[in-house]
Amino acid sequence: METTLIILKPDAVQRGLMGKIITRFEDKGLQVVGAKFMQISGDLAARHYASHEGKPFYDGLVAFMTRSPVLVLALRGVGAIGICRKLMGATFGSTAEPGTIRGDFGVSNSFNLIHGSDSPEAAEHELGLFFGQGEVLDWTRANEAWIYDLSGDEPE
Ligand code: RTP
Ligand code: MG
Repeated sequence: METTLIILKPDAVQRGLMGKIITRFEDKGLQVVGAKFMQISGDLAARHYASHEGKPFYDGLVAFMTRSPVLVLALRGVGAIGICRKLMGATFGSTAEPGTIRGDFGVSNSFNLIHGSDSPEAAEHELGLFFGQGEVLDWTRANEAWIYDLSGDEPE
């Protein structure tokens, strides 16, 4: 099982798209194991996007992410990191495929609705930035055995 860090960015929150976007993930079979509605500080945005520091879009990105509240989610599933990136689509709505979150809900080349960790290392780092001890919960879904085949050693 992998756990990934998803952020519904300020444009998703302001546009009232939180429910629709969470539904995409839940419908797919991913499990919500953490959720936090918060306003990101400049310091936290800088730590989260440290790898982009110095790029032309960096200052605008930090301003965007700190301007208004976000919903931060921890989502779990087999291959959750890659599955979430596929559901999100390409970086900007202008080119993201229809059927993806960015492709269906956005047109902008700047505001892009959602962040998702792009590797296991990034997920571990980002989950640690946004969630404290005990804020990501291990819990068993009532329908788990109908989402995965649990008859073997690993969920399939
Ligand atoms: P994210 O990290 O937010 O999940 O998005 P991503 O992997 O698809 O894109 P990434 O290359 O990591 O860029 C991080 C965020 O920076 C903004 N960006 N702006 N104007 C630009 O050329 C540009 N490029 C990237 C986007 O908000 C992107 O999500
Ligand atoms: Mg990225």
